Amino acid sequence: MRLGGRVAIVTGGARHIGAAYCRKLAAEGAAVVIADVLDGEGVVKEIAAAGGKAIALKVDVSREEDTERMAAEAVQVFGRIDILVNNAAIFLNIQRHPFYEISAEEWDRVSAVNIKGPFLCAKAVFPQMKQQRSGKIINISSSTVFAGTPLFLHYVASKAALVGMTRSLAREVGEFGICVNAIAPGLVQHEGQNAPKEFTDFQLKARSIKRLQTPEDLLGVLVYLASSDSDFVTGQTLLVDGGSVFY
Ligand SMILES: NC(=O)c1ccc[n+]([C@@H]2O[C@H](COP(=O)([O-])OP(=O)(O)OC[C@H]3O[C@@H](n4cnc5c(N)ncnc54)[C@H](O)[C@@H]3O)[C@@H](O)[C@H]2O)c1
Repeated sequence: MRLGGRVAIVTGGARHIGAAYCRKLAAEGAAVVIADVLDGEGVVKEIAAAGGKAIALKVDVSREEDTERMAAEAVQVFGRIDILVNNAAIFLNIQRHPFYEISAEEWDRVSAVNIKGPFLCAKAVFPQMKQQRSGKIINISSSTVFAGTPLFLHYVASKAALVGMTRSLAREVGEFGICVNAIAPGLVQHEGQNAPKEFTDFQLKARSIKRLQTPEDLLGVLVYLASSDSDFVTGQTLLVDGGSVFY
């Protein structure tokens, strides 16, 4: 157990990759706060059945009153906040189309959740982490940024923003013992992922390691960045994509 006694907030933890993050952090000993617009009780039950601790909160990360409540409830229930995983995003429901067909409203909604959300969550947990003089903020970016994947410019731009946010925030909070890093996953297969076959074939061809990526492929790096093993690592973006793009 590498995270015993720690408290982790995982946004978008109610399903898919975020749920895998929650299960792993709990298995490593962290108490987990699952913050999602969806109901996270199913994941709470799984974690409890495995002997771990978790609660689920209904949170829209694009609303400041929600992110403030999220941080306050985490402290009220578990007493501290050690880890924030900014995983919530508009991703699976995104329509892929040329940039000139993306409406201004769709652009704004993606930006509100994928960029403003991580900013608001970091802002909400900062006072507690500052007081503790320690913390780990992990932003979930995407390898699409480095590959320059076309046809969802709003999404790729939002994930690129997280690379910049990771670097600048790392410089602002380092003096308080807070590390800020990002993970950039490649295309991850899970039950909700419905990528067209030509797209997965293209991904496989580009990869050094010729197999599909699963949520479990991300967990080693997640625990590394959440644990004291990475205490002198900050401002970094780690690509976990089977060696598809190099950065
Ligand atoms: N699946 C992939 O291939 C892949 C690749 C690279 C990066 N990612 C990133 O990994 C993360 C998880 O992706 P996923 O494939 O599990 O997708 P997903 O859509 O299942 O996960 C997103 C989660 O965020 C939640 N969410 C959405 N809007 C929210 C809001 N306003 N407030 C709170 N929660 C909200 C959703 O309910 C969901 O649980 C995302 O950040 C995604 O961009 C995914």
